[in-house]
Amino acid sequence: MNQPTSQPANQPTTGEPPVLTIDGPSGAGKGAVSAAVAERLGWHLLDSGAVYRAVALAALDRGVDAGDEAGLVALCEGLDLRFEPGKDGIAVLLDGVPVDQRLRSEAVSLMASQVASQPEVRRALLGLQRQFRQLPGLVADGRDMGTVVFADAPVKVFLDASVEERAHRRHKQLKEKGESVKFSRLFRDLAERDRRDRERAVSPTVPADDAVVVDSTELALDEVVQRLLGLVEERLGREEKN
Ligand code: DC
Repeated sequence: MNQPTSQPANQPTTGEPPVLTIDGPSGAGKGAVSAAVAERLGWHLLDSGAVYRAVALAALDRGVDAGDEAGLVALCEGLDLRFEPGKDGIAVLLDGVPVDQRLRSEAVSLMASQVASQPEVRRALLGLQRQFRQLPGLVADGRDMGTVVFADAPVKVFLDASVEERAHRRHKQLKEKGESVKFSRLFRDLAERDRRDRERAVSPTVPADDAVVVDSTELALDEVVQRLLGLVEERLGREEKN
């Protein structure tokens, strides 16, 4: 790996492993981009949305109510959550059981957004998320990675795309799965969810002051990946692994 000859301005001085944060709204392609960049760099990957979804699933399974903040915090503190590489990517294990399919259900999505709006729950999950910061580095995917969880990250990206493009991508995905949902409804729901996420009091989905905003509306996945690898290289002088 190339080491920089001089210290870039954003390089952490703490000696902590480097982090690339990728925040942004639903459907901007964060998941696919984060996985590809982590793979190319040989870095760890944190899908923080899956953490909120796992808490939501555990709450539904154990009958903890969305409004029971103390119950949810207790659940977060005892959460047995692991991410393990498998043949189809990274498998999420809750209490040792793979839960990937269940994490994507509508009920879990709805509960996750309620769970994620509670400040004490967010606080209780900080330690778990920060444990992912390990050598040689971490790609952290979410909404508040650059603003809260890894506020000292040396490279921050806010990945955006127009509501229309994100609704088109979602529409195509659902169609491929054999589900038919009206485009106009997807568009309206996404726009509404964006507004709620941007305006919520705790950890709103907004770019960190020092984030680079990348608009993926007109870009293919690989173009976004290349741009992010370029940013990491520029800030850290690191070469990709593969
Ligand atoms: O990215 P996703 O759809 O898997 O996220 C699931 C929920 O968790 C969604 O309501 C947004 C929320 N979330 C959050 O508030 N903060 C994060 N860092 C990641 C996700």
